[in-house]
Amino acid sequence: MSSKDTDTREAFPTDAPAVVTCGLPYANGDLHIGHLRTYVGGDVYSRALESLGQETAFVCGSDMHGTPIAVQAIEEGIDPEAFALEWHEQYEETFPKFGVEFDNYGHTHEDANRELTYEIVERLESEGYVDEKKIKVAWDPVDEQPLPDRYVEGTCPYCGEHARGDECDEGCGRHLEPGEIEDPVSTISGNPAEYRDRTHKFFKVSELADYLDGFLDRLEGTSNARNQPRQWLEDGLQDWCITRDLDWGFDYPGEEDLVLYVWVDAPIEYIASTKQYTDRVGIDEYDWEETWRDDGEIVHIIGRDIIQHHTIFWPAMLEVADFQEPRAVMASGFMTLDGAGFSTSRNRAVWAREYLDEGFQPDLLRYYLATNGGFQQDVDFSWEKFRDRVNNELVGTVGNYLYRSLLFAHRNFEGTPEAEVSDEVERRIEEAIDDFAAGVNDYSVRAVGTATVELARFGNEYIQREEPWNLVGEDDEAAAQVICDCVQIAKAVAVLFEPIAPSASEELWEQLGEDGSVHDVTTDAALAAPPRDFGAPEELYEKIDEERVEELNEKLESRVAEAAGADGNDGEAAETESDEAEADAGSAMSDIEPVADDRISFDEFRHLDLRVGEILTAEPIEDSDKLVKLTVDIGVEERQVVAGIKQLHAVDDLPGTTVVIVANLEKAELFGQESNGMLLAAGEGADLLTTHGDSPVGTKIR
Ligand code: 2FM
Ligand code: ZN
Repeated sequence: MSSKDTDTREAFPTDAPAVVTCGLPYANGDLHIGHLRTYVGGDVYSRALESLGQETAFVCGSDMHGTPIAVQAIEEGIDPEAFALEWHEQYEETFPKFGVEFDNYGHTHEDANRELTYEIVERLESEGYVDEKKIKVAWDPVDEQPLPDRYVEGTCPYCGEHARGDECDEGCGRHLEPGEIEDPVSTISGNPAEYRDRTHKFFKVSELADYLDGFLDRLEGTSNARNQPRQWLEDGLQDWCITRDLDWGFDYPGEEDLVLYVWVDAPIEYIASTKQYTDRVGIDEYDWEETWRDDGEIVHIIGRDIIQHHTIFWPAMLEVADFQEPRAVMASGFMTLDGAGFSTSRNRAVWAREYLDEGFQPDLLRYYLATNGGFQQDVDFSWEKFRDRVNNELVGTVGNYLYRSLLFAHRNFEGTPEAEVSDEVERRIEEAIDDFAAGVNDYSVRAVGTATVELARFGNEYIQREEPWNLVGEDDEAAAQVICDCVQIAKAVAVLFEPIAPSASEELWEQLGEDGSVHDVTTDAALAAPPRDFGAPEELYEKIDEERVEELNEKLESRVAEAAGADGNDGEAAETESDEAEADAGSAMSDIEPVADDRISFDEFRHLDLRVGEILTAEPIEDSDKLVKLTVDIGVEERQVVAGIKQLHAVDDLPGTTVVIVANLEKAELFGQESNGMLLAAGEGADLLTTHGDSPVGTKIR
């Protein structure tokens, strides 16, 4: 078995081949922009790695098995394979339209995946990691059939929320083993289900607890993916049921009545898809075995609802079967639309196809999705916010800089003037390259994007400060110097913005008169001299006007109202979604709590003393799953505050964070520790409230 004991890995780019994967979408429904978040994130990340010179394959595929697909195919009266293939083909066509260019996009029902799946399962068996156990399986006593996973819904035994099959999707988010769900009901017939004894296969994950402990120490990526599994490990791992009573899927070797649980063969498609890539391009171009069996840099990009599968079950399988372990898992937050969940059944979504039909450039959405908040933060989409970011940042900062500087260069010098780039500009471009590389190494696609926007912002300040329009005719040498600098900045923008805005960067590359494709260059090209001659530039990004936003909002509203009418509900009450599309990576599943009916007066609000604070120290409280003891500087004094924020934060990363605290809350004692104040945080994930600007500690919030 392979395992690494190095604490810190070499920074990217390394000499080993990398593979970047995105969570496989279930092949069972239309894609909306919420789904696109992880795929755009994956594409940006893999392009950025390549820009650093890292050999990288970017792979994915459709997840064809599992009960949601079997159930939907039954409802539509078609064969599950035909049903899933239709969606698979649609996804294969849609992703590239958003610039998401997988090196290979396969699907889980192919031979490549079947062969590798059997190889791995047989290895789990031969290494003694598979057990048989008699378990209780939900059963429809009227229809006389087993009810695996999504065929059944009921109550979560851990948190009491409504849950479906194998996952507590509306409550604690846990994976649920067969037999765990309480008060089971068939989703097909509506009949109350009973539990019957069946024999199933179990992967003895519990025996890999020590390995997983070390793996989590080594794991890189976003802090939610590195920290959440710690809790599951501390709670003790249960063995994992890897078979189902179902007709659709890969048969379990040697068992006629059982298929493999979808979550076994789904991640194996990451390997199969990489192998297909090698089969297509040849081993000299990319060797899948070097990556997966030897020393590859494996980076998984997923939605945060599937962290457990990627940080517990999957590395455990890889370890036993002697494959390379993942280097990093990046888990994205969910997405909301105008503050509430996307809902396929209520047609409350901006559909991928619709976005394209509206004629928007894919790069605009890529920019929004990749840079609006950190990757693990929840992100809200609204047409207003989209317009503001496009108009202010892409049009106002990046586009404006490129157009004004290149137009000036073209009109006055017919291209790049004969001059050397100044030290100041060379240093500023080097800084942008460093920020870009730091973004990759911090697993922050946002930082990759902002490195370039900040460079363009500098470009605007520079041209404004140097006023080349006053130099032309007065001091032509100085004018040439400034414009040479400006063209170099424009070229650096083309190179460094390629991962975020591949189409616009390619267009800019052509406008600059460059040969070849910007997709093939590395960040060094940002400092290479631009061509001497180029023509008049064209604006790269188009502004979105107010009326357009109104129109789009009206369309969305009327669509939701229409769907509500068709459903016979008033469209207001946020009913719980059990639609499987909501489980896809990147979409929001929970409904928003209604706003409290009781209004408070302004006077009552004024009694709250809310302050800006800075966390100085943070230490976990032993024996508590959630609590952390903090010292917070609130300007007038330092406070000890106990906060329930362990779930989503690496405790060591908390010092230095700007927070908002309720300073005049009565003191409390928690786990024997005094808490003198309360930190404000949003939602289950304890997303910390902070300030947008630089308000000093102690500032009162009004
Ligand atoms: O949750 C999902 O949407 C799954 N289809 C993701 C599978 S990712 C992987 F493991 F393959
Ligand atoms: Zn639960």
